[in-house]
Amino acid sequence: MRQLIAGNWKMHGLSAQLAEIEAIGAARPTNCDILICPPATLIARAVERAKGLVPIGAQDCHAEASGAFTGDVSAEMLVDAGAVAVIVGHSERRQFHAESDAAVAQKARAAWRAGLLTIVCVGETQAERDDGRMLEVVARQIAASLPDGATVQNTTIAYEPVWAIGTGRTPTAAQIAEMHGHIRKLLIDRFATGRTMRILYGGSVKPSNANEILGIADVDGALVGGASLKAADFLAIAAAAAPP
Ligand code: PGA
Repeated sequence: MRQLIAGNWKMHGLSAQLAEIEAIGAARPTNCDILICPPATLIARAVERAKGLVPIGAQDCHAEASGAFTGDVSAEMLVDAGAVAVIVGHSERRQFHAESDAAVAQKARAAWRAGLLTIVCVGETQAERDDGRMLEVVARQIAASLPDGATVQNTTIAYEPVWAIGTGRTPTAAQIAEMHGHIRKLLIDRFATGRTMRILYGGSVKPSNANEILGIADVDGALVGGASLKAADFLAIAAAAAPP
């Protein structure tokens, strides 16, 4: 399976940053699949500037297709803007918007309804790891945030330990291998295509550690925050992806 290097711009990016997407497209990385998820305001213009060379995704969606939900954006609207994927259940959504596993599952269903690839994020906090509960926490998130019907075509998992996001700290290779192996087993037990569903690692991935992280068993790519904002850094990470 080809690795996927996905960029999550979070609440970063004005018109001027669209040049980064153009630069990524111009480099045409071929050893892996790529995806950039800019803020919703830039999606339509990012699609234009990407010229079909960089698939564009979103960072969240509402569970309903339309309705009286001021400020929200539906999966159908994201497709209309040209998005092909959406991240759901990012820890920043779980933390700052109190999104439960059940809410994340509803968003995943909405994304499928609209025809978007769904990237479902899971990951333990520092306290949960310190208590030795990380495998149990992630198992609960996988069980409750992933609806029945997840397939290799419609779903990708991102394991993002909360304590590694934006901190510059990363788990050891052994810790990543343990968790990705755990998630793989849970996916195989529950879904017909669980063996080939992609499991991305996210949390302080950068050019200097991409090679090691992308070489770990059951790591099928990366979800990159801060280092995805500059084309050069994003392309350096993509270059570290395993050849197909
Ligand atoms: P980071 O963010 O790469 O800046 O740590 C990753 C993420 O939150 O997806």
